[in-house]
Amino acid sequence: MKTILITGGAGFIGSHVVRRFVNKYPEYKIVNLDALTYAGNLENLKDVDTLPNYEFVKGDINDAAFISALFAKYQFDGVLHLAAESHVDRSILDPMSFIMTNIVGTVNLLNGARESWKNNFEGKRFYHISTDEVYGSLGETGLFLETTSYDPQSPYSASKASSDHLVRAYHNTYKLPIVITNCSNNYGPNQFPEKLIPLAIHNISHNKPIPIYGKGENIRDWLYVEDHAAAIDLAFHKGKDGETYNIGGNNELTNIGLIRQLCKTMDKKLGREEGSSEKLITYVKDRAGHDLRYAIDSSKIQRELGWKPSLQFEEGIEKTVVWYLDNTEWLENVVSGAYDKYYEKQYLTR
Ligand code: NAD
Ligand code: TYD
Repeated sequence: MKTILITGGAGFIGSHVVRRFVNKYPEYKIVNLDALTYAGNLENLKDVDTLPNYEFVKGDINDAAFISALFAKYQFDGVLHLAAESHVDRSILDPMSFIMTNIVGTVNLLNGARESWKNNFEGKRFYHISTDEVYGSLGETGLFLETTSYDPQSPYSASKASSDHLVRAYHNTYKLPIVITNCSNNYGPNQFPEKLIPLAIHNISHNKPIPIYGKGENIRDWLYVEDHAAAIDLAFHKGKDGETYNIGGNNELTNIGLIRQLCKTMDKKLGREEGSSEKLITYVKDRAGHDLRYAIDSSKIQRELGWKPSLQFEEGIEKTVVWYLDNTEWLENVVSGAYDKYYEKQYLTR
């Protein structure tokens, strides 16, 4: 039996990856390490948490001694590193927590793996998740390739870029076996309602304004989270040592175009008159340094590993809306006191 460490498994993408691995690989013991920050929620994993091949450990990747002891105790065969501070707006308000978790935390894990594997890397793998945001902002044309130079623009993307460089440096210097993927914007069940789509679903449900930064003309590429989890599974198992793979949904949308589509779906599902949710759209002050456009060329992972997205945006957003409307209790539980304070600082003073 192999023992696999997944970090950040109580978060949005992490919980989908944990669920996939626990169900699909009964021959693995999955250890989910998560600090349960405001973004971590064990409710996301209710359906797997009693399975015999799953264990949750609460802990902070910033604590080097704890990480070293964890590797010594479990003797992991592989690592999927997803834990991070993940929200651009929070990185603008408080960059230091991003520097600590995303950079120092990643190095603690790299050191833990290196020490525990003692330069015997046979059958071992360190997978690191990254984002398309490390490539910076595109103009109206072009796509990010794996060879595109890094040009991060926010404290969040700069901290993710730093961690990617360090993961590659450990591969080049110590031969640590690594794989990195860079993915576009994810959406789907269990996403914390500070990111655009779940925030808008929550606000529409409560007839609250939908805040759109600037003119809403910024473009993102959107991928359904389970398609991302499938790509991560492939990259972890089949990716070539030291390689990077870009992952994207081929679903480029302006923010305002996306929100209009979401409003139509919400009107339909809530039985509201068509056009009523759109009236909630409210333009607010733009995000500082707001990247104009992200778009991914994912042909390498499609060609080399046989991955492709299973859902287009129209289908994915419908599934997502249905999930949030069926899980209002999850959403209301998450919109906690801590989140309210952040919401106040971010929106009510703009
Ligand atoms: P998330 O914020 O929902 O989850 C992050 C998880 O990490 C939480 O469970 C949190 O408790 C945990 N965590 C945070 N700090 C920790 C620490 N110091 N020690 C241990 N655990 C800690 O994030 P997400 O959206 O699921 O993103 C997961 C990863 O995927 C991140 O690395 C992010 O950069 C990357 N990514 C996200 C997207 C996206 O669209 N959401 C796209 C590409 C890449
Ligand atoms: P977000 O979900 O924060 O993801 P990211 O910044 O990582 O792309 O934001 C997606 C887009 O939506 C981004 O261009 C910023 C914009 N946005 C709004 O217009 N209003 C909001 O309230 C939020 C949270 C985001």
